[in-house]
Amino acid sequence: MDLKMKFVILLGFVCLVHCRLDDNNDPRNNGDLAMWIDEKQVKMVSGYTMKIFAISNGNVSPYILDPNFEKHLPIIPAEMGYVNFTWKAGSKKYFYYFDRLQSFDESILKPPVISIKAKGRVPKRAKEFSISLPCSGNNSGIATFGIGLHIETKKGKPLNGMPLKLKLRKECSQKNPDPECDKKCANQGRCNHEKICQCPEGYMGPYCSTALCYPQCMNGGNCTAPGICSCPAGFQGLHCEGGICSEKCLNGGKCVQKDTCECSKGFYGQHCEYSKCIIPCLNGGKCRGVNKCRCQAGFKGDHCEIQVAKLLRSTCNIPCKRGTCSQNTCICDPGWHGRLCNHRKPKEV
Ligand SMILES: *[C@@H]1O[C@H](CO)[C@@H](O)[C@H](O)[C@H]1NC(C)=O
Ligand SMILES: *[C@@H]1O[C@H](CO)[C@@H](O)[C@H](O)[C@H]1NC(C)=O
Ligand SMILES: *[C@@H]1O[C@H](CO)[C@@H](O)[C@H](O)[C@H]1NC(C)=O
Repeated sequence: MDLKMKFVILLGFVCLVHCRLDDNNDPRNNGDLAMWIDEKQVKMVSGYTMKIFAISNGNVSPYILDPNFEKHLPIIPAEMGYVNFTWKAGSKKYFYYFDRLQSFDESILKPPVISIKAKGRVPKRAKEFSISLPCSGNNSGIATFGIGLHIETKKGKPLNGMPLKLKLRKECSQKNPDPECDKKCANQGRCNHEKICQCPEGYMGPYCSTALCYPQCMNGGNCTAPGICSCPAGFQGLHCEGGICSEKCLNGGKCVQKDTCECSKGFYGQHCEYSKCIIPCLNGGKCRGVNKCRCQAGFKGDHCEIQVAKLLRSTCNIPCKRGTCSQNTCICDPGWHGRLCNHRKPKEV
């Protein structure tokens, strides 16, 4: 599939989830509380135009409540010093307060600063506020920061899904002037008069060589162009979210190519559903080859059917003197008897 085609499909998918419609007939924005990140901003981190709704119709968007949501967020590039949200209360009254604006690495990033009061009323009509993300200026790197937001009704009832606790990541880069900037800026980054690369939307890094994907590529996929993931063997999907095998590979088999399982030793079949051990391995043993079992500690035999006496001794609590403990009884060696096998049997004459 060529890149363009992939991109069209990607946009289609993203639209299903977040796509912009006209504000007035956008079903996510029907007069009740809404909060979103605008198109311009999203374009900066992902290279395409869409809104991302955090709250719509008075409800926190389900994908934000997904525990994996944060993993899928792009890193906010160095070029972007703030995230702007737009919100509106619509027909009802809502009150908000921020209880956390925190940087988890202050050597890179100072705590975020909001452009509105920490506590107040959500504006009736759509209004923008910004969360600025000031890099400390001392260190380059990626810092995690946290935002905690509560929104409640006039009667103090929290909105479903509140408080909103987000952890995001921001890149801070001390881009140093580089006389060879002209040659090094990649991906149509522009070398400015200070000899620093300025990256186009969807790219970051000192030489614009890092593409940004939203959601982030999963399962070890690489983001190779804005919104395009290159997936490792065995995974597919726009974000490498899925294994390629339509049916799961069983018994520890791995999906390695489209509908192809690589079975672990001891199994075969299209989905590794058949065991090579005609007599099943007993006592927790695993089939490792044609009628070969690898037994759990304490068992042996082709099918792990034999209990190893040594182990029994150690699981037994009785200190048998001349015998083996089995099921908490001493089984005495020939010539010995007694509960602990500590009495020599009288010699038979
Ligand atoms: C975001 O807000 C800041 C500060 O209010 C403003 O300077 C900037 O232009 C806004 N950016 C966008 C993309 O709307
Ligand atoms: C950054 O460096 C300045 C000057 O060297 C220092 O005063 C300041 O404490 C440093 N800030 C952080 C967050 O490390
Ligand atoms: C992703 O990039 C790394 C580093 O360049 C490489 O080692 C790895 O094989 C790549 N993975 C995929 C799935 O392309």
